[in-house]
Amino acid sequence: MEHRFPEGFLWGAATASHQVEGNTHNNWSEWEKKNAERLAGEAKTKFAGWQQEKFPEMFNPQNYISGRACDHYNLYEKDFDLAKSGGHNAHRFSIEWSRIEPEEGRFDQKEIEHYRKVILALRERGIEPFVTLWHWTEPIWFQELGGWDSARSINCFLRFVEKITIELKDEVKFWIVINEPNVGLGFGYLKGSQPPAKKGLFKFLPAYFNMLKAYKMAYRLIHQIDSQAKVGFAHSFSPCESDIMWPFGRIAASIAEFFENFFLSSSKKQLDFIGCNYYSRFMISLKGNNFQKGEISDLGWEIYPQGMYIAMLRLKKYDLPIYITENGLADADDSRRPEFIREHLKWLRKSINEGVDVKGYFHWSLLDNYEFPDVRGFWPRFGLIEIDYKTLERKPRESFYAYKKIIENNGLE
Ligand code: GCO
Repeated sequence: MEHRFPEGFLWGAATASHQVEGNTHNNWSEWEKKNAERLAGEAKTKFAGWQQEKFPEMFNPQNYISGRACDHYNLYEKDFDLAKSGGHNAHRFSIEWSRIEPEEGRFDQKEIEHYRKVILALRERGIEPFVTLWHWTEPIWFQELGGWDSARSINCFLRFVEKITIELKDEVKFWIVINEPNVGLGFGYLKGSQPPAKKGLFKFLPAYFNMLKAYKMAYRLIHQIDSQAKVGFAHSFSPCESDIMWPFGRIAASIAEFFENFFLSSSKKQLDFIGCNYYSRFMISLKGNNFQKGEISDLGWEIYPQGMYIAMLRLKKYDLPIYITENGLADADDSRRPEFIREHLKWLRKSINEGVDVKGYFHWSLLDNYEFPDVRGFWPRFGLIEIDYKTLERKPRESFYAYKKIIENNGLE
């Protein structure tokens, strides 16, 4: 079997502004302050005994306040030096809307220049930037206007997209307009466990369809401004499986997957590539929480490398280039990450052998960071590089070097 990856394959890692930059002032930072005490109290019921024992930080309200995070806003050059030393030739990050447009319609040129410097710092190091425009956080005024469940959201978002594209089109080729609409809106509007915490199907549905419309319009807008741009979004894809008797299990899994892929299939004419975030499979079972069987991460997610292959084969029908825009695990002692990376890449390579056009892989994440799906805070450790949050010291983990070796070989041995 061929273990080397195609010529020109992109290798890198991903981050998101709110999770690493520090000192953001947006809908999340406000919400965190109001909810930190409650979240610390709920940790007792949310997490298993072994997790509580291993990560007592989860009982400290400070764990849920993003604060200065990794101070990546100031230390990005240092972090990109590390990425370069790890052989990375691509990097995914997000632009923080609340910095660029702190008040409605007023753009902060100084912050635009900040991100220009960030991008140039990548380019100088031979690293291709992949720029995310919405990775879950929003300016406070946007939330006050009603957020995504208000029809006004579409024009507000497009105004930001237009400004950024005009400003940065010469430096950026790859745009990831939206990150994980399903997960972001699902937790924000269906479960109501993270901002904007507006729980209810009749809040979720308008938000979802406004975002879908905004995505399609953003795609056209970016292409009008730069016909060469490559535009897509990052789709969180957990292939659905079931251990329920055939054909019922298969039918249930297909229905679940239909909804999971709805955003993707509805925007397939407005996609230059698919960004796929793969973490694990989604198991439909009558036997309780079957999802946690087998080897699991610190967050209790099943480690299922073969799912990478299954995901790729299911996305093949879209006939588009695919970038793995996220894949990783919470593993504080780094005992599983090196193997995790190798195994997932082995299965990814197998899908390429079978004709899937995969062009790049971004590990989640370059740095430990503020884990925000469902507001976990700082205790889950996703980084190739460990952060000491007291001293801000960066320390590459063993997996950083394991990944480096793979990149140097352009594949597995
Ligand atoms: C996403 C999330 C990331 C998470 C990561 C691990 O894009 O999937 O928003 O920011 O940190 O997925 O859960």
